[in-house]
Amino acid sequence: MPQSPIRKLVPYAEDAKKRGVKVYHLNIGQPDIKTPEVALNAVKHNNLEIVEYSRSEGSEEYRTKLAGYYAKNNIHVKATDIIITTGGSEALLFTFGSIMDAGDEVIIPEPFYANYNGFSVASGVNVVPVVSKIDDNFGLPPIEDFEKLITSNTKAILICNPGNPTGYLYSKDEIKKLAKIVNKHDLFLIADEVYREFVYDGEKHHSVMEVNGLEEQAIIIDSVSKRYSMCGARIGCIVSKNKQVIETALKFAQARLSPPTYAQIASEAALETPQSYFDEVKAEYVDRRNMLIQELKKIDGVKVAKPKGAFYCIAELPVKNADDFSQWLLEKFNLNGETVMVAPAAGFYSTPGLGLNQVRIAYVLKKDDLVASVKILKEALKKYNSL
Ligand SMILES: Cc1ncc(COP(=O)(O)O)c(C=O)c1O
Repeated sequence: MPQSPIRKLVPYAEDAKKRGVKVYHLNIGQPDIKTPEVALNAVKHNNLEIVEYSRSEGSEEYRTKLAGYYAKNNIHVKATDIIITTGGSEALLFTFGSIMDAGDEVIIPEPFYANYNGFSVASGVNVVPVVSKIDDNFGLPPIEDFEKLITSNTKAILICNPGNPTGYLYSKDEIKKLAKIVNKHDLFLIADEVYREFVYDGEKHHSVMEVNGLEEQAIIIDSVSKRYSMCGARIGCIVSKNKQVIETALKFAQARLSPPTYAQIASEAALETPQSYFDEVKAEYVDRRNMLIQELKKIDGVKVAKPKGAFYCIAELPVKNADDFSQWLLEKFNLNGETVMVAPAAGFYSTPGLGLNQVRIAYVLKKDDLVASVKILKEALKKYNSL
C-alpha cells in the first residue's frame, strides 16, 4: 500500500509546529471556506432520538433530492442510479471492486489523484498511466496513447475532471474522444467529478453523463467534501445508469452497512445552499489562483500550468528531488518562524521517475497566507540551492 504523498510529511510538520514554527498547509485539499449554514443547522436543530443505520444505498430522500441536483447540472438520473458512499473515496473503492477483478487494468492520465494508487492496490487492480505534460497544461494526451495501452485486461479509463492535481478541465470534444474509445473497446469511463462546481474563466463543465450513447459505460464519482467544504462529513456517491454496476456496488455498500446518518442529513440540507454561496466561493478561488500563479511565475526556474478548475496546481521547481526539498522545508527551514508544507508530486504519478522535481500546491488558504507562502518558497529555494 503506497503512502499518501499528501500526508506522508505530516510527522515533520508536527515536529516543526512543536518547535514553534508556523506551517502553511498547501499540501492538502482542506479548504478554509465555511460550510453552508443550512447544512450545519440541519444537524444542530434536528430531533433525532436514535442515530440509526440508514439504507445501504443511502437515504431515499437524499438520493431523490440529489437526482434533482444532477438534473440542474444536465445529468438526468433517478434516485435508483445513485449509491451514497462514505466520501468519494469509498465511491472509488466500490467502483473499482464492482467493475474489475484482480489483475484487471484501469488507464489513468497522470499525474492523478494519488489515492487512486491506494484504491487500485486495495482492489488488486493495476493502474496503467498515460502521461499528460506540464507543457500541454496537462491536457488530454493523444487518444492513440490510450489505445496503445488497451489490453484484454483493460476494464476502464478513469479521468478526474476538473483535475486534481492538475486543475485541467476537459473540453466537450475531449470527453467525446474518450467516449468513442470506450465504446469501441467496451470499457467503462469513470469520471471523478468531485470538483464540478470549481470551474473558472467562464468555462463550462462537461460531465461524462451528458454524452449520448454512454449510458452503460459512464460512472460518476462524486462527493460533498469540496462542494460544500464538508470534508469531515464523509459523504459521496456513485452515479451510473448501468444497473449491473449499481447492483454490484450495492453489495459492497451492504457489507459496510450504511453511510453515516448525520452526515446524510447535513448533505441533504446542503442541497439548499444558495447560488450566492457558490458565486462567492468561486470568486475567492479565482482570486487565489491568479495570485498564486502570478507569484509562482516570478520565481526563477519555476514552471506552472494555469489551472482552469479545482484548487490545485502542479509546479515544477528548480530542484532535483522535490521530496527531499519538501521535507527539508519542514525540518530545516523557516523564514521568520514560518514555513510551508507542499505535496511532492512524484506520488501523483505511477511511472517511476516522473514528477520528481514537481510539487502539488493547493490554494486553499486565504490570499495573505498564499502570498506569505510563496515568499517562503522563494527564499527557501534560494537557500536550498546554495547548500
Ligand atoms: C479527485 C478527488 N477524488 C476523490 C477525493 C475523495 O474525497 P472524499 O473522500 O473526501 O469525498 C478527493 C479528495 O481530495 C479528490 O481530490
